[in-house]
Amino acid sequence: MRKKVSIIGAGNVGATAAHWVAAKELADVVLLDVAEGIPQGKGLDLLEAMPIEKRDCSILGTNDYADTKESNVVVITAGIARKPGMSRDDLLNTNYKIMTDVVAKVVAASPKCVIIVVSNPLDAMAQTAFRQAGFPRERVIGMAGVLDSARFRTFIAEELKVSVENVTAFVLGGHGDTMVPLPRYSTVAGIPITELLEPARVEALVQRTRDGGAEIVKYLKTGSAYYAPSAAAVEMVEAILKDKKKILPCAAYLQGEYGITGLYVGVPCKLGAGGLEQILEIKLTAEEQTALQKSADAVKELCSVLGVA
Ligand code: NAI
Ligand code: 2OP
Repeated sequence: MRKKVSIIGAGNVGATAAHWVAAKELADVVLLDVAEGIPQGKGLDLLEAMPIEKRDCSILGTNDYADTKESNVVVITAGIARKPGMSRDDLLNTNYKIMTDVVAKVVAASPKCVIIVVSNPLDAMAQTAFRQAGFPRERVIGMAGVLDSARFRTFIAEELKVSVENVTAFVLGGHGDTMVPLPRYSTVAGIPITELLEPARVEALVQRTRDGGAEIVKYLKTGSAYYAPSAAAVEMVEAILKDKKKILPCAAYLQGEYGITGLYVGVPCKLGAGGLEQILEIKLTAEEQTALQKSADAVKELCSVLGVA
């Protein structure tokens, strides 16, 4: 029997994630949104691409959670983006309400699924989803580090004029200005970039990574990035569905790892059939640990506003 992936929110990230799942023939897809007609139209359009792409996936657009029943993985992209005049807390509170509502319905339809949270502010929304779902931490994971690391990898590959396939990178911490790119653990064919680039160049790439989301928003003006974010979420989906035991930076609920307890923060995770199968604790310098703690403090502040800390 084919696996089933439901994607909640049929906007830019959700619909593009559906596209990647189908293009890779990973699973049947259910695309759900509150907007009537949008998921149905996008779902049918994508389904009609399958004979051309030679992919056997069923794709269903819907407004009804009954159609998401017994999904293996559910990706949550539902939410609003900040608009002029809205405070950060306005966005936080609105997306909190959307997240709690969505997660309650997801859990009722698919009590055994793994949830991947994409909606922003990412770490606080992952924490909200975790509290609402009542699932073990293994089955609620946030996507941010794969995207932030992919941006870092892109910039490193461009700078050194090497294949992106040669570049690995790690970005830890919360998905925001305080994220923690780790140059010492970022390599080209196994060689740390700190051996290949001057410190000032490394710092410039690190800063561009931190500003990666804003760089795209500045171009698009009316929305935020979605090709790389959706590809990042689907890399996590693939690792879980194929039980790949893949090490990826993900937002996970920490229970003492890295000296942080009771909070979603981006750390290296092993993803497999069980969802989050292991958190890897790598050695950090005092400076890196301080930066990670600062990032965790920023996440905690948002979670406290929501009462989910
Ligand atoms: P979008 O505005 O294109 O799509 C959001 C969709 O959510 C809309 O179709 C809307 O109708 C739907 N929606 C709203 N309330 C809903 C509900 N209660 N139930 C079901 N659907 C609902 O936005 P986009 O660009 O797809 O981004 C989605 C979210 O992902 C945003 O919060 C964005 O900030 C976040 N994001 C996170 C990234 C990350 O690295 N974690 C990267 C990129 C985006
Ligand atoms: C990004 O990093 C908006 O979180 C989103 O592109």
